[in-house]
Amino acid sequence: MNPWKNERFASESLEAIDRQFLPGTGQEVEFIIKELGISIGSSILDIGCGAGRHSIVLAKSGIAVTGVDISSKMLDEARKRAEENNIKLTLVEGDILRLSELLNGRVEAFDGAICICESGLGTLGWQKDLSVLKAIYGYLAFGAKLILTTYNGLKKYRGEMIKAKSFDYLQGSVHWRLPDDWYEEHYDGERFKDIQRVYIPSEIKMLCEIAGFGDVEICGCRPGEFNRQPLEPDDIEMMVLCRKKRTGK
Ligand SMILES: C[S@@+](CC[C@H](N)C(=O)[O-])C[C@H]1O[C@@H](n2cnc3c(N)ncnc32)[C@H](O)[C@@H]1O
Repeated sequence: MNPWKNERFASESLEAIDRQFLPGTGQEVEFIIKELGISIGSSILDIGCGAGRHSIVLAKSGIAVTGVDISSKMLDEARKRAEENNIKLTLVEGDILRLSELLNGRVEAFDGAICICESGLGTLGWQKDLSVLKAIYGYLAFGAKLILTTYNGLKKYRGEMIKAKSFDYLQGSVHWRLPDDWYEEHYDGERFKDIQRVYIPSEIKMLCEIAGFGDVEICGCRPGEFNRQPLEPDDIEMMVLCRKKRTGK
């Protein structure tokens, strides 16, 4: 089961996101707007939108936002926050693996897409990540960009997690293992696995290119300081910027 469907996991994670990342969100959105080249009246797809951290600031800037997320808890919070901010979001509940089904009926292409902070993409395994990238590509306007942030595999491959056996370097997967009694104490015995496929830069670049994207660039990614800095091997996350081809020909 996806851990985000567990209400307690989602609540505790949201508290951590609010504490660590909410204060830097304004800066991140400024960067996103500039990089995507969007403005009032543009439309954007926020994949794994969570409690609407970016969606709400984008909507306040006049962008029409569609957010997709698997967690009803996170979406309830996004609805509440949107109402408090007096803005409108289109929120869709479901697994991004079913993106085409979830957006079924939508005919207008998006002017940009974001997937920030390990929000689905990068957690599915490479074949499924690729199918989602292809689906996103299909919903973008020609020339529109996707910004994706995900773990930097270079750090994991160098790191201490190999010794702790929580990083499977043959599969490129991080297995977040919780002790058995943790599940009893925190999640009423409900068990789930959170496995994240961690990419090295050349792998994620290749996946984006196979999905059809061009102009694929990889930068460093520090929360609250989005600015196209070069990726360092020890950065925890990386940022991927890529573009749908500019014409249908
Ligand atoms: C770490 S939170 C980040 C939320 C938001 N992007 C932000 O930066 O504040 C990850 C989000 O991705 C969502 N998510 C994880 N796997 C997903 C999937 N397969 N489909 C849709 N949403 C998913 C979770 O429910 C959660 O809201």
